[in-house]
Formats: sequence, structure tokens, C-alpha cells
Amino acid sequence: MKALVLYRSHYGNTRQVADEIAKELRAKGVDPVVTDLRGKLPDFADFGAVFIGAPTRMARVTGKALRTLGKLAKKGWGPKPVVVFDTYGPLPATPEELEKGKKWLFPGAAGLMQAKAQALGLNVYAKTLRCEVSTLKGPLKDGEMKKVASFIEEVAPFIQ
Ligand SMILES: Cc1cc2nc3c(=O)[nH]c(=O)nc-3n(C[C@H](O)[C@H](O)[C@H](O)COP(=O)(O)O)c2cc1C
Repeated sequence: MKALVLYRSHYGNTRQVADEIAKELRAKGVDPVVTDLRGKLPDFADFGAVFIGAPTRMARVTGKALRTLGKLAKKGWGPKPVVVFDTYGPLPATPEELEKGKKWLFPGAAGLMQAKAQALGLNVYAKTLRCEVSTLKGPLKDGEMKKVASFIEEVAPFIQ
């Protein structure tokens, strides 16, 4: 099965997560094609699953990602699986700061894409993959990449 891994990335953090998703999919016998959302997108009909990821910026997600979900729905993606991921953070150090800053972090790009996919009637996986950065522009925090393998392990039955 071929899976399309779409991403948008300004500083490379989300691209790294997309590449790691592709690596883990390959290990599961899935054939991934990683594509920048800004480029020409391949024909969706060639794929059995789509992963879509973007950074959380100013509590928002790029319109390009939301429009791409719209295209999927319009172009007859039907019940085929959609899986959403993002990068975000860094999380504040104290519970008080977290409470104050939570609107910037949650639901984040992943939650916004998931809500949009649901509203479009797409078959979107209930859980999102979110990888945290250590400073505003990255790099990803130690250990965040390790979440990718377990997430793909978990999502594998949904996309097969
Ligand atoms: C201008 C700017 C705004 C950001 N705004 C947010 C935000 O509102 N919430 C958040 O969780 N992270 C925010 N971040 C952190 C990014 O989500 C993080 O750096 C992300 O990994 C960038 O991904 P990229 O390297 O793929 O572009 C922001 C980063 C930048 C540079």
C-alpha cells in the first residue's frame, strides 16, 4: 500500500517528523511518498492513506493544510484513512504558565486539522501525533522522535 505523507515546514522540524513517519511506515511494509504541501501534489487516487502535518504557529495552522483536506474530500477520498500530526511548543515550565499559555499550544495545528477533517466527513484517526520543540524554532526536544515509532505501531491497523 502507498501512503502519502504531506507536510509544511519552515525550519525543518515538521519535515523531520514526516521523514521519520515515512521510515516507520517502510518498516511496516507501507510505501510512503513524502511531499511538501507547497509543491505539486500527486494524484490522491494512487494512495491508500494520507498523513498530513504542519507546525503550530500563532495557535493556527497553515491554510494550505486545511485547503488540502478540502481537496481530499472533494476528490473522492471517501472512507480512506487520514492521520494528522504537528510540531508545537515549547511547553512552559510551570503549571501556572501552561494555564496562561494553553491557547497557543492546544489544540494546535494537529487539533485544527483534525477538526477540519472531521467536519469534512473524512475518516480521520482519533489520535494525533504531536512533537514538541525545545525552543520556538526547534530543534525537536530529545525523545520526541521516539513517539513516532509507537504512534505508527498504533495507527498501523487503522491504515491497512
Ligand atoms: C513565528 C512562530 C510562531 C509560533 N507559534 C507557536 C504557537 O502559537 N504555538 C506553538 O505551540 N508553537 C508555536 N511555534 C513553535 C513552532 O510550532 C515550532 O517551532 C515548530 O516545530 C516549527 O516547525 P517547522 O520547523 O516545521 O516550521 C511558533 C514558532 C514560530 C517561529
